[in-house]
Amino acid sequence: MNQKSAEKAWGGVFRVPTDQRVESFSESISFDQRLANDDIDGSIAHSQMLAECGLLTQSEADAIRAGLEDIRNDISEGTFHFTASKEDIHLHIESALTEKLGDIGRKLHTARSRNDQVATDLRLFCRRAIDRIDAGLLELQRAFLEMADREHDLIIPAYTHLRRAQPVLASHQLLVWCEKFDRDRQRLTDCRQRTNVMPLGSAALAGTSLPIDRSKTQEALGFHTIAANSLDAASDRDFVCELAFVLSLTAVHLSQWAEEWIIYSTDEFGFLKLPEAFCTGSSIMPQKINPDVLELVRGKSARAISNVQQILVLLKGLPTAYNRDLQEDKEAVFDSIDTLEAMLGVAAPLVAGTEFDRKRIGESIEKGHLDATTLMEALIVEGVPQRTAHETVGKLVRLALTKECSLTELSDDVCRAEYDGWNASLRQALGSPRAVERMVSFGSTAPACVAEQLAAWRQKLETAAKEIR
Ligand code: ARG
Repeated sequence: MNQKSAEKAWGGVFRVPTDQRVESFSESISFDQRLANDDIDGSIAHSQMLAECGLLTQSEADAIRAGLEDIRNDISEGTFHFTASKEDIHLHIESALTEKLGDIGRKLHTARSRNDQVATDLRLFCRRAIDRIDAGLLELQRAFLEMADREHDLIIPAYTHLRRAQPVLASHQLLVWCEKFDRDRQRLTDCRQRTNVMPLGSAALAGTSLPIDRSKTQEALGFHTIAANSLDAASDRDFVCELAFVLSLTAVHLSQWAEEWIIYSTDEFGFLKLPEAFCTGSSIMPQKINPDVLELVRGKSARAISNVQQILVLLKGLPTAYNRDLQEDKEAVFDSIDTLEAMLGVAAPLVAGTEFDRKRIGESIEKGHLDATTLMEALIVEGVPQRTAHETVGKLVRLALTKECSLTELSDDVCRAEYDGWNASLRQALGSPRAVERMVSFGSTAPACVAEQLAAWRQKLETAAKEIR
């Protein structure tokens, strides 16, 4: 049914009202109302600039500012009426302003199009999201660093192919997450630079014949630079795509961490004790304490990954300048932002409440011949070629496997049978604590090396906390 609908901001040329099915198909108010604050900030800056350029009087700009602040209030208090017939947040706010101010409200859209307006709003929104997520990542890094500090001396097995590989300090392993999230933070900072560019003033695509001064809105909105090409600026969504990508990789890191801790906290591994407040139970099996929070962190990463794909596919067929397809960018990037914030909201407290099970780890730390590589390196120091040393130790491991014992438990005679230069000092390489102590090259797991890494992280995160935006 094509019923008469609200007056449109673009109605002049039309002879018939918009079909209601089109209104509900094309509306974005259901999701872009989240841009309200940014839209109002943009409009206040824009109207003040128009006044300074002689396109509005100062009293008109003042009235617009006051009207917009009232609207901001109504929206935040939930008394503002949203309707699909007014399409999007930009038209809602403008028409509410016109209801309040009449012709003065009708002047706000001077030298502006919704194309540069929505691009500006979205950049402001993403810029704030970047800063919040960056702060969340820093908090998570701090939680890992604190845990690493607490567990500094604990030795755990490290794995490749999920098979016991070599012993490492638990603190070394925990700092892995500080490294990964640091790269994510660097990517966010980098992405923020390209987000922090102002499209406002590009108007629909060609700029404007009116005497505006974009540097004034730039300054008011805190943009680092002004977009140089109006045709590009009104439709550039690279920043949306980049942010979605950075968030997807961050989500992948969170997912890897969740997966590792799910494994480490199983009864079979018994490495970690998760905080009970961050686990849930089963409705049928009374004994279950499940790692649902970690599973959901892992599971929710799928959304962040698919959102990047959605945005890339959205963009790939678009000719230059604004196309309505671009309206579809928002839900994807909003979802990535929401998902990451939700994940970060639980990750840091979960880390803070988790403990290693030192007893269980201690019971099994000498299992799996974790010291084999260190013994091989000790043979290399004696002048044995690496390939030969590898083979010799491989044979000793095979003997130990047959005898179901550790390398330490093999007698000197057995060892001498494989390597005739066998001597007591080679035994200094055996056992997990000694294997760890020997790993002294830069970035390795020896206590002194990890102490340096811990100190560096402490300093880095303290500085970052001071700089947080
Ligand atoms: N809701 C629109 C969007 O999100 C705003 C821009 C509309 N521009 C236009 N020319 N129809 O993209």
